[in-house]
Formats: sequence, structure tokens, C-alpha cells
Amino acid sequence: MSRTRTQVGIVGAGPAGLTLAHLLQLEGIETYILEDRSREYVEARIRAGVIEQAIVDLLVEAGAGARLQHEGLVHHGIELQFAGERHRIPLSDLAGGRAIVIYGQTELVKDLIRLRLESGLPLHFEVSGVSVHELETERPLIRYRHEGRDEELECDVIAGCDGFHGICRPSIPAGVLSEFSRGYPFGWLGILAEVAPSNDELVYAHHERGFALSSLRSPELSRLYIQCRPDEDLAEWPDDRIWVELQTRLGLEGRTLAEGPILEKGVTGMRSYVCEPMRYGRLFLAGDAAHIVPPTGAKGLNLALHDVRVLADALATWHRSEDASGLDAYSDTCMRRVWRAEHFSWWMTQMLHRPEDGDPFDLKLQLSQLRYVTTSRAAATSLAENYVGLDMV
Ligand code: FAD
Ligand code: DHB
Repeated sequence: MSRTRTQVGIVGAGPAGLTLAHLLQLEGIETYILEDRSREYVEARIRAGVIEQAIVDLLVEAGAGARLQHEGLVHHGIELQFAGERHRIPLSDLAGGRAIVIYGQTELVKDLIRLRLESGLPLHFEVSGVSVHELETERPLIRYRHEGRDEELECDVIAGCDGFHGICRPSIPAGVLSEFSRGYPFGWLGILAEVAPSNDELVYAHHERGFALSSLRSPELSRLYIQCRPDEDLAEWPDDRIWVELQTRLGLEGRTLAEGPILEKGVTGMRSYVCEPMRYGRLFLAGDAAHIVPPTGAKGLNLALHDVRVLADALATWHRSEDASGLDAYSDTCMRRVWRAEHFSWWMTQMLHRPEDGDPFDLKLQLSQLRYVTTSRAAATSLAENYVGLDMV
């Protein structure tokens, strides 16, 4: 087995791991990134699309936002549709001028991988058998297999950026973490379609047949979602059926959606989950490895990048001056934003999705809440400031 040393060993080359590595590179801190999937797989995985202004600013300042700035679509509002009407929430007017940018997570990941590879710093894809050890010591270790060899990476700190199904969180001994979760009896069936978006802004639609969302990736690509069962079988959803359902839930009197070839389809289950603290010894968890939200508030990707910004700052301070106060406060600092996003995502989810049993009382409450959010400036402001991202750190 060969042994290598680095300062920060990063497990996972998703948005959290790649951004952390980039921020630490700017601070002169050595990192090693280990990813168990192939580059092609990671770059093809279609996920989130809404980026908060503060995260756009972070990426641009860090020199990782050139294409995002050029190709990202700035949106100043979203629309809520219910009872056959559409209502605009003017995000920027209500939230101090801040906006959101539509830019696929896939594109962001491609940008970060390219930057990393150009820098010549270590990023290994298709590693296997990743495990973390000696977490309570000052020399935590990552063991893995790469290109037929067993490797050992000795680190000052390990960053667990390996998503919800990764190995870092389960490596923390039982009893250390407090876990909080909520399941939902539905999922989203998402498609990417080669057709110009029918709506200028995102439309979140409440409908008696279930929620639907009209989003986009570019002036030529639409991204659309419909509420489905969490275990929905895609085989039961030929393209025609998907379009009929989208037209029913998102169409309005005299307005239909433009249809086009479906390039990709997938089903995502929904869950809220948080573990506390996001640290055990010299292992720091970030992003989906520590918390997930249902996608309705578009917060998952943004939270992951807020985490790594806090972690990178804390590691830089520790590296410069041996001051560990930022690392000691890491979990508490992140938790304030995490729980705000957990609440907002849960709230948006329960306001917009058809409950499993279609209980008429729930339906009336949802419609009342939607009416309130679209007619009261105070309620709309609350939605807007959460959606564009609150200043918390
Ligand atoms: P991830 O993106 O999950 O990255 C973790 C990385 O670690 C992956 O590359 C994985 O392959 C790697 N990894 C895992 N295990 C190991 C291991 N043992 N060794 C090495 N590497 C490992 N959010 C939204 O806001 N809107 C959406 O529409 C939306 N859709 C989503 C759809 C799906 C199917 C999923 C899973 C998530 C979605 N999200 C969405 C959430 C958002 O994409 C995540 O919050 C975001 O990807 C978090 O980034 P991350 O880097 O923390 O984790
Ligand atoms: C998208 C995803 C979301 O979860 C959301 O709330 C809005 C847009 C998207 O993929 O475009």
C-alpha cells in the first residue's frame, strides 16, 4: 500500500467537494479529491438549476464563475399558479434587489472539474473501497483503491462531501450524531426537453392532480417536473403521458406548453434530513452528506456551497494562525442556515403538493396560504427573501 500526505482529503467530487477544493487552493492549502464515479457520470448527472445571488458572487469572486456569468439566466421573479390563475412574486423588488441565476448544476460541476484539471492538482475519479479512519487523531486517514493499487492518504482534516449515500457520515460512531428527518409520500418526475421554455420565469403550480414546475436550462432547453409517487415506475410514463400531465397541471385558459423531444427523464424521491453536529474529530461533513431538503425551495445545491464557504474560511484561519475557533463553530454556524432552508423547503413542499389522501381540509389550507402569499406584501416578502437566500453568516 502506498501512502501520500495532504492537508485536506476531500471525499466526493460533487458541487461541495469541488468548490471546497477550489476555495482552499486560493488559500494555498493542499487538497486531494477522491470520487467513486467516472468523470462522464458526474458531468452528466442532471440535478438542481437555481443558484442564489450570494453563491453566484462567491463563485465569481473565486474565479470559477466566468461561464456562469456569461450563460446563466438572471431571474428577478417567480410565478405561483393555483386555481387557474398565475401570480408573480417579484423577488428582487421584495428582497433588496437580489436575484437568482438559472444555471444547471451539471454545468457548474463541469466548470469546476475543468478548473481543477487545469491546475494539475489531484482529482481521482473511479476510486473504490473508500474508507475513513483515525478520525479522533491529528492524522486522519483515507484508504481507497485506484487503478488497481491500494492507497492511503494521510490528512490534517477530512472533508466528507460524498452526498447523502456516501460513506463519511456512516463512519461516525453510533450515538455521536443527532438525526432529524421527515419523509414525503411523493417524488418528482423531471424531464429535460429540447424546446424553448414556454414561460419567461419559473412557474410553481398547485393543481388538484398534483404539483408541477416549469423551469429551464437555456433559451432552447426546458426543465419540467411533475409530482409523482416516490417509487414511480418510469416505464409507465411514455413521453405523451408526461406532456398530457404537464399541459393539464401547467396550462392555463388559452395557453399551452410548447412540446419537444424529451432528452432525459428521472424520478427523485423527497426527504428532509439533518444530522448534528456536522463534525466528528477531524472529519467535517458538508452538503448533502449532512443534510438534504425536498427540492421545492431549490435550496440543496445552495446549502452545500454555503457550507463549504464556511469550512474553507475556517480552515484558512486555522492554517494561517492555528486559530481553530472557526472550525469549532463550523457546525453551529452552518446549522442556522440549514434549519432555515429546511423550514422553507418543507413549507413550500406542503403548500404546493397534493397530499397523499387528497384531504379537502388540507387543500383549503393550501389555497388559503397561496392566496395570502400572493396578495400580502409581508407574506410575499418572506417567501422572496428565503428564495433568494438570507444573509446569515
Ligand atoms: P452530491 O452532488 O451528491 O455529490 C457527492 C459526490 O460524492 C458525488 O459525486 C458522489 O458520486 C460522490 N460519492 C459518493 N459516495 C462516495 C464514496 N464512497 N467515495 C467517493 N465519492 C463518493 N436540488 C435542488 O436545489 N433542485 C433540484 O432540482 C434538485 N434535484 C436533485 C435530484 C437528485 C436525483 C438528487 C440526488 C439531488 C437533487 N438536488 C436538487 C439536490 C442537489 O443536487 C444537491 O443538494 C447537491 O448535489 C449537493 O451537492 P453535494 O456536493 O453535497 O453532494
Ligand atoms: C429547478 C429545481 C428546483 O428544485 C426548483 O425549485 C426550481 C428549479 C430546476 O431544476 O430548474
